[in-house]
Amino acid sequence: MAAATMKAIRIESTGGPEVMALADAPLPEPGANQVRVRHHAIGVNFIDIYHRTGLYKNALPMGLGLEAAGVVEAVGAGVTRFKEGDRIVYSAGPIGAYAEANVVNETQAVKLPDSIAFDVAAASLLKGMTARFLLRKTFRVERGHDVVIHAAAGGVGQIAVQWAKHLGARVIAVVGNDAKAAIATSLGADHAIISAREDIAARVREITGVGAHVVYDSVGKDTFEASLDSLRPLGMMVSFGNASGPAGALAPSELQRRGSLFLTRPTLFHYTATVEQLDETARDLFDVVEQGAVKIAAPTRYALANAAQAHIDLEARKTTGSLVLIP
Ligand SMILES: NC(=O)c1ccc[n+]([C@@H]2O[C@H](COP(=O)([O-])OP(=O)(O)OC[C@H]3O[C@@H](n4cnc5c(N)ncnc54)[C@H](OP(=O)(O)O)[C@@H]3O)[C@@H](O)[C@H]2O)c1
Repeated sequence: MAAATMKAIRIESTGGPEVMALADAPLPEPGANQVRVRHHAIGVNFIDIYHRTGLYKNALPMGLGLEAAGVVEAVGAGVTRFKEGDRIVYSAGPIGAYAEANVVNETQAVKLPDSIAFDVAAASLLKGMTARFLLRKTFRVERGHDVVIHAAAGGVGQIAVQWAKHLGARVIAVVGNDAKAAIATSLGADHAIISAREDIAARVREITGVGAHVVYDSVGKDTFEASLDSLRPLGMMVSFGNASGPAGALAPSELQRRGSLFLTRPTLFHYTATVEQLDETARDLFDVVEQGAVKIAAPTRYALANAAQAHIDLEARKTTGSLVLIP
């Protein structure tokens, strides 16, 4: 009998979106403590672009994608968290979520509440858990804090804006154009700065007087300096992405000169390294979604076969909210 196969996006070399091709791949079998998930919706994240371009290095050839929601269809030996038929979602890989199915370690997936649809889950687990660790762990946002959020109309940004407002912060959104500014303010942002035509640091100082308590900067190279210049003394610079390219090196004395600043470059995977951390982080996200404090906009949908177009649109800053692939 021929081995079962599935459709999957594969890349043979790193490069532009054209390196992505839909191929037949063997349907993976779950090993011990693993489950196979039949995907209903697949999350598209900016990190997938870093994997595709080689900014973040992996062995080739490879699949792409870290996040998907679906139904458990096979369980390996020793699995205790899930059974066949469970609705689950995962966002820590293994790389290869751009496929009809994937095998994941049971400790890297969470059960999906019935109230949350597959596409909403795939649109929000990685991005929402990121918003959660940024706002609750990296810097604990409290009522009255001045918080700057870059790419505020994007996938992570839309969730972070709403969550920061829910925590009582004054939110200053930074976005690429007027339409995105309108989205950020409709989600509760108190101010929106258009990065293409405004001086970010000058505007933040105008709004806050002394500067922000914290800046969440996912844009990287293009905004790093402006973000540092937007902080008050003892403020926290959270550099958590490279959408415009990685930020350059910084001498520690630059933090002193600008007011004894703090700088961190965090990643979600260190904040959800244990199953307890993963469950706590996901639970907090599901809670704010179920309460309605954070609304997940209907994601833009692409066919799995059309994954390259999702990357083209995301890289071109054409998208707002989250993107999902439908197998
Ligand atoms: N550290 C972590 O654990 C972690 C986890 C998740 C995501 N992230 C990071 O968070 C960011 C957001 O991820 P996402 O998937 O939700 O994407 P996204 O925010 O929906 O899309 C990226 C946005 O970045 C902005 N941007 C500014 N300059 C850009 C440029 N030169 N090229 C492309 N985009 C540019 C654009 O918004 P404007 O047009 O409004 O500027 C664009 O829409 C990414 O940098 C990602 O790497 C980090």
